[in-house]
Amino acid sequence: MTTEIDRESARGATTTIDGVGIRFGSYHAVDAISLDIEAGEFLCLLGPSGCGKSTLLSALAGFTPATVGAISVDDEPVAGPSPERGMVFQNSDALFDWLTVRQNVAFGPRMRGQSRKAQAALADEYLGLVGLRKFADKFPDQLSGGMRQRVQIARVLANRPRIVLMDEPFGALDAQTRQVMQQEMDRIWRESGCTVVFVTHDIGEAIILADRIAVMTAGPAASIKNIYSVDLPRPRDETSPEAIALHQKLRQDIGHEVRTALREQGLATEEDGR
Ligand SMILES: Nc1ncnc2c1ncn2[C@@H]1O[C@H](COP(=O)(O)OP(=O)(O)O)[C@@H](O)[C@H]1O
Ligand SMILES: [Mg+2]
Repeated sequence: MTTEIDRESARGATTTIDGVGIRFGSYHAVDAISLDIEAGEFLCLLGPSGCGKSTLLSALAGFTPATVGAISVDDEPVAGPSPERGMVFQNSDALFDWLTVRQNVAFGPRMRGQSRKAQAALADEYLGLVGLRKFADKFPDQLSGGMRQRVQIARVLANRPRIVLMDEPFGALDAQTRQVMQQEMDRIWRESGCTVVFVTHDIGEAIILADRIAVMTAGPAASIKNIYSVDLPRPRDETSPEAIALHQKLRQDIGHEVRTALREQGLATEEDGR
């Protein structure tokens, strides 16, 4: 498929997370997270449920303020939400049901007062990229779950974001669709040139997609435990020996964190860890 993505304006941004800690009242959710994300990088945040992945992503989006530390994108401090940091949610309730697919994708450009021609061009470009041009005049509820997630991705990309934030975007899809969407996401990311921070608790998904995988510790006060570089050719084969070896390493790492979390909740004993 050919696309007419303007790489210059769709380029990724450098993101710096510097000593970020986040508290909700007395609850200490994340602690002392420092991480530099390169322009155009695909970074996965991987960790057990409840560790603080969404909290950190929400801070990157500017929805949740950091209690301590700072986040900046291309040296500009993150002080609130911006279309330059687009978020794709697990649930496609985020789409506007009363707008067509094309109108959903054109929404950001329309809000920014772009001409009708520019809106249509952006919608067409990004619907093409996600493989939905034929469905432009449908409404979200006429589409499958996987297609609705494609619309969310196109809608975020139509804002020409510097960074795309994705919170378990394929977590609600059936296994087959999820697999297709992972391969699609790999292609979309490569063609769009944007920076992606992608939250998942699915190790295989992180291996297929990430340049680097940041494994988080179990909360409270979750931080980054290890960072793995994934130097495997794309599109990736989850069944290659290298992928399987990495899968095992990550499973051990996360298994340890899950057991720690369960012990903190009084749901597991030391023996479970052996
Ligand atoms: N707005 C909030 N107020 C209080 N606690 C919160 C809030 N958001 C998240 N938390 C808590 O912070 C922890 C991390 O949550 P979250 O970031 O959603 O985890 P994850 O996405 O890794 O599953 C959880 O214990 C959660 O209950
Ligand atoms: Mg979450």
